[in-house]
Amino acid sequence: MSKIYNFSAGPACMPEAVLKKAADEMLDANGSGMSVMEMSHRSSSFEKILKDTKDTMRRLANIPDDYEILFIQGGGNLQFSMVPMNFNKNGADIINTGQWTKKAIKETEKLGRVHIAGDSSDKTFTYIPKITQEDLDPDTDYVYICENNTIYGTKYKELPPHEGKKLIADLSSCIFTEPLDVTKYDMIFAGAQKNLGPAGVTVVFIKKDLLDSQRNDIPSAMLDYKTYVNNDSMYNTPPTYGIYMVGLVCKWLEDEIGGLEEMEKINHKKAAILYDYLDSSKMFSNPVAVEDRSYVNIPFVTGNPDLDKKFIAQAKEAGFENLKGHRTVGGMRASIYNAMPVEGVEKLVAFMKKFEEENA
Ligand SMILES: Cc1ncc(COP(=O)(O)O)c(C=O)c1O
Repeated sequence: MSKIYNFSAGPACMPEAVLKKAADEMLDANGSGMSVMEMSHRSSSFEKILKDTKDTMRRLANIPDDYEILFIQGGGNLQFSMVPMNFNKNGADIINTGQWTKKAIKETEKLGRVHIAGDSSDKTFTYIPKITQEDLDPDTDYVYICENNTIYGTKYKELPPHEGKKLIADLSSCIFTEPLDVTKYDMIFAGAQKNLGPAGVTVVFIKKDLLDSQRNDIPSAMLDYKTYVNNDSMYNTPPTYGIYMVGLVCKWLEDEIGGLEEMEKINHKKAAILYDYLDSSKMFSNPVAVEDRSYVNIPFVTGNPDLDKKFIAQAKEAGFENLKGHRTVGGMRASIYNAMPVEGVEKLVAFMKKFEEENA
């Protein structure tokens, strides 16, 4: 195998065509005579990159004009703080589906009231709690979810009820893996490093009227979404190279893949190849409730930690990288985001079958 298959949960594999384009433009981007890394963020060359990136995103997901597209640094973790800092006035309803909502809960509690509207910790987060409107606290401002749980491999197939409240969602691991109707949310955020580009840039889609309900004690301009809206994400030096890469990935989704509907078909195909095998295997199994299974993060175990270790080591040797499960859950996990080719999953399954035969 000339190239390895990288199943990392993030930073994750990138489309090869995008890496090649970035390599081609490394020394001279768009005839500017310089690398994107060297451009002033105030230059017309970079302004065009920023505009093209946003325009491509708007086309891909039909993002209407009453939503702003922002680029922020600090990753998903800064969003865990910024969201309550801006919007938690009377409290937040949070549905706890694992590590990434636990961290959001911790930060939100520092800044106001939290009501846990649902919680799947009783079964180590192997399902999505199905809540009703009655499970929500009547006084909270918004409902907060993590839509795809990267570590546990669960995903909301339907959004929770949130009548009379705003909906804010962390889409870090599922953004643009399928069609996205942003009008169902008031705000979405996603770290780029799984499906959109390199680490260091977080994409935010925010409904403009959400800014009418901001708190009035936001401690810093850099922590205030309005600063990014009013300055086209250029109040300070933005992560210019990251934004450029996000633009290339979105162009690839549009031109090479053919849009998010097509991307979804490919992702469902890849997931089905792996789940079908896991469901028929006598050695490997996936612990997640079938209806809540993620299409892009697929954990699995043998039930024997020593055998898991052996599998991970032999898989690495065979060119399948980063299959070790998250340190908090163990076992294995295959992250098969947009850039993982179907062939990568087929080859992984062939390898798993062989391993099963040899170690039965
Ligand atoms: C769903 C989700 N949210 C948030 C984060 C945290 O992102 P960051 O490391 O960029 O702060 C991650 C990281 O993997 C994640 O998977």
